[in-house]
Amino acid sequence: MRRRYAKVSIIGAGNVGATCAFRIAEKGYADVVLIDIVEGLPQGKGLDMLEATPIIGSDARIIGSNRYEETANSDIVVITSGVARKPGMSRDDLVLTNKKIVQEVVAQVVQYSPDCIIIMVTNPLDAMTQLALHLSKFPRSRVFGQSGILDSARFRTFIAQELDVSVEDVFTCVLGGHGDTMVPLTRLCTVGGVPISELLPKEKIDSLVERTVKGGGEIVALLKTGSAFYAPGVATAQMVDAIILDRKKILPCAVRLDGEYGISGVVVGVPVKLGKNGIEQIIELKLTPEESASLRRSAAAVQELLKVMQI
Ligand code: NAI
Ligand code: 2OP
Repeated sequence: MRRRYAKVSIIGAGNVGATCAFRIAEKGYADVVLIDIVEGLPQGKGLDMLEATPIIGSDARIIGSNRYEETANSDIVVITSGVARKPGMSRDDLVLTNKKIVQEVVAQVVQYSPDCIIIMVTNPLDAMTQLALHLSKFPRSRVFGQSGILDSARFRTFIAQELDVSVEDVFTCVLGGHGDTMVPLTRLCTVGGVPISELLPKEKIDSLVERTVKGGGEIVALLKTGSAFYAPGVATAQMVDAIILDRKKILPCAVRLDGEYGISGVVVGVPVKLGKNGIEQIIELKLTPEESASLRRSAAAVQELLKVMQI
């Protein structure tokens, strides 16, 4: 008999959802259900992915559907449904449209998978995570969002390019909201264990920080019809890995702070330990007064969106 596979449902079979689904399917430890409102889209993409499994050597079962019944008893539900940015739009411009979509989706997710872990991807990410937390009434250990892995990966990429080193040797830590107020902590950035301040002049580091903060917009300007999806898709799949495989990985995730970092009741990105129970620990870094003020500014920007959403 086939051993029990984990079950991961992905709501929104668009660019990010499909990329994430395929990455998870490739790992071969979880069955994947793709859901979308568009008739035929999740079914078509799901079948296409399933037909790739003999080639990629995965026995994962992937199905697409428009019905939440198929998602019943998921271990993890990833929510990517919503509108993506177009040129000239910020992530925050999406707030009211995506609020409506996330409201509908979370109600179904809670009904069919009351014990699941929810990973939010829909933008504006921190506000949508807070909305999902509010609506689901799940504990914060089971509702959190993806942003910091992507933002840190962009910073890592730019540093590795600049120094002509392997991306794997670059460590960065980006805190805060997934927007213009994100806080890349250059003090903690290292290359092969060497602080970046010993390898690059301050002006160069500042320009790489600036590019990181505007990294999402850079892709939107190039694509013109939507936003990034390869890096966001695999960033989200890395969170799924950490949970399903109980890896206890330390990753930056968007989580509601309840006094940590001097912030209460607001979702922002900070390093956490991710394992089978979701967020198993919030890692509280010792910040300088300047870093701490930047993180609080970022939380205040998220709070503005919460007011717009009236939650
Ligand atoms: P997309 O437009 O390719 O896919 C979105 C999908 O959601 C579409 O297939 C659409 O039919 C579906 N959808 C809309 N309403 C729905 C509903 N009520 N139920 C189920 N499905 C529904 O967009 P993409 O590029 O996949 O982006 C998705 C979201 O993720 C956007 O809000 C985008 O801003 C956000 N995003 C977040 C990132 C992050 O780091 N947190 C990174 C990249 C994108
Ligand atoms: C990104 O950072 C749009 O949030 C998305 O690419």
